[in-house]
Amino acid sequence: KKGKMSIDPLFQIGKVDERIYGSFIEHLGRAVYGGIYEPGHHDAGEDGFRQDVIDLVKELNVPIVRYPGGNMVSGYNWEDGVGPIEERPKKLELAWRVLEPNKVGTNEFAEWAKRANTEVMMAVNLGTRGPDAARNLVEYCNHPGGSYYSDLRVSHGVKQPHRIKTWCLGNEMDGPWQIGHKTADEYGRLAVETAKAMKLVDPTIELVACGSSNIDMPTFPEWEATTLDYTYDEVDYISLHQYYGNTSNDSASYLAKTLEMDRFIATVIATCDYIKAKKRSKKTMYLSFDEWNVWYHSREADKAIEPWTVAPPQLEDVYNFEDALLVGSMLMSFLRRADRVKIACMAQLVNVIAPIMTETGGPSWRQTIFYPFMHVSLYGRGTSLQPVVQTPAYDTNKYTDVPQLDSAVVHNEEEKTLTIFALNRHLHDGLDLEIDVRGFEHYQIVAHTVLEHNDLKAVNTKAYQPVKPHDQGQSTLQDGKLEARLPRASWHVIRLK
Ligand code: AHR
Repeated sequence: KKGKMSIDPLFQIGKVDERIYGSFIEHLGRAVYGGIYEPGHHDAGEDGFRQDVIDLVKELNVPIVRYPGGNMVSGYNWEDGVGPIEERPKKLELAWRVLEPNKVGTNEFAEWAKRANTEVMMAVNLGTRGPDAARNLVEYCNHPGGSYYSDLRVSHGVKQPHRIKTWCLGNEMDGPWQIGHKTADEYGRLAVETAKAMKLVDPTIELVACGSSNIDMPTFPEWEATTLDYTYDEVDYISLHQYYGNTSNDSASYLAKTLEMDRFIATVIATCDYIKAKKRSKKTMYLSFDEWNVWYHSREADKAIEPWTVAPPQLEDVYNFEDALLVGSMLMSFLRRADRVKIACMAQLVNVIAPIMTETGGPSWRQTIFYPFMHVSLYGRGTSLQPVVQTPAYDTNKYTDVPQLDSAVVHNEEEKTLTIFALNRHLHDGLDLEIDVRGFEHYQIVAHTVLEHNDLKAVNTKAYQPVKPHDQGQSTLQDGKLEARLPRASWHVIRLK
């Protein structure tokens, strides 16, 4: 099959906000305990943080990490996680029905974030709590000193404020599973009052209101409209969450799921703009896609986990090659709406539905999904361009007119690089792609990286990691015409300079 693409530096979608390469650490399973934090591990420092894990996080170049939940935050008292570690309470954590030892809390996580070269995106509890606990936490984290909570932080050994800029107003408050689940009106009122109080403490912070937990929620998109009606003037972003799975083992439909993701993003943008018009507002609302990934492999195993244990192996999806292809595709969805999607967090980062796995007491390794995330995070910085694309299309059991070629293009004007991300999502047909890059005079191909495997179900485990990229992609460039061969079911990063 044949496809064509034409790229022009003037066809700009928008500047890529590097925070779309964010991630997420929740107090859940072995993300914190046995993941980022394992005192006594041979790779852990005095503070208990595993250096091997920090090194892998740095490889992914993650600029922001959401914390501490997730569903967990809706029952969390942040005060339990500060002060002398030995005095902290062990609590029943109701969202995941585990025992939370509170050995890691706000200050430890902020320290880890510094070491991992990333920023904290803090979520406040709007399930069991409200404006009072939230504004106290902002004071604890961001106020320099001379007030009760800022001095409490200083007394806990943290002199300088954390200056956390981005805050989530609760988590998935539209979901009946959420502790303190609310109607859109209840949430909208609570969120706007909490936002006001938090911004009174620190007017420099940015706030994310909860959108729907996924596109199939019965209240979507009315939830967004109502919530934004209350909060539009006080918040800066509305959140989106989405997980996919190939439960019916229909890989052709699975790899087309990002058509839904594009529609999800487009609908939320339309809803934001409807409220903007209704309010005669000049302000544009941005999107924070702060939970996204593949999540389905571990669902059965999780049912057998004993409640009220510390850090059981929950949500430990072992990802295969086709999951990596879908993850690349999801990242391209964000790039295509770089004008509005300003934050996105792969959920999650370590052990829990994660690109990085560890063995407690043992090594760490890269899951299949690590690679497309790393590629787009490293090379997808600059300005997202709108290519003109001609591609064959086909039908799957679930979708019609699925484009065989899924793509996104990023031009970095400072570094004078052009990166073409491409997925041939067809399971059987290769694609010969001709790309017109005449607008990029003197650029040459510097690398053509490919992630491919003949088994869609191939996985990376501690013992063996067969799914990894190579640089032997087939492409040539002459007189502004780039020709690339995209074998069936393969992920490509073609870099020009
Ligand atoms: O990331 C796992 C869970 O998925 C989060 O706790 C919750 O917000 C979502 O439902």
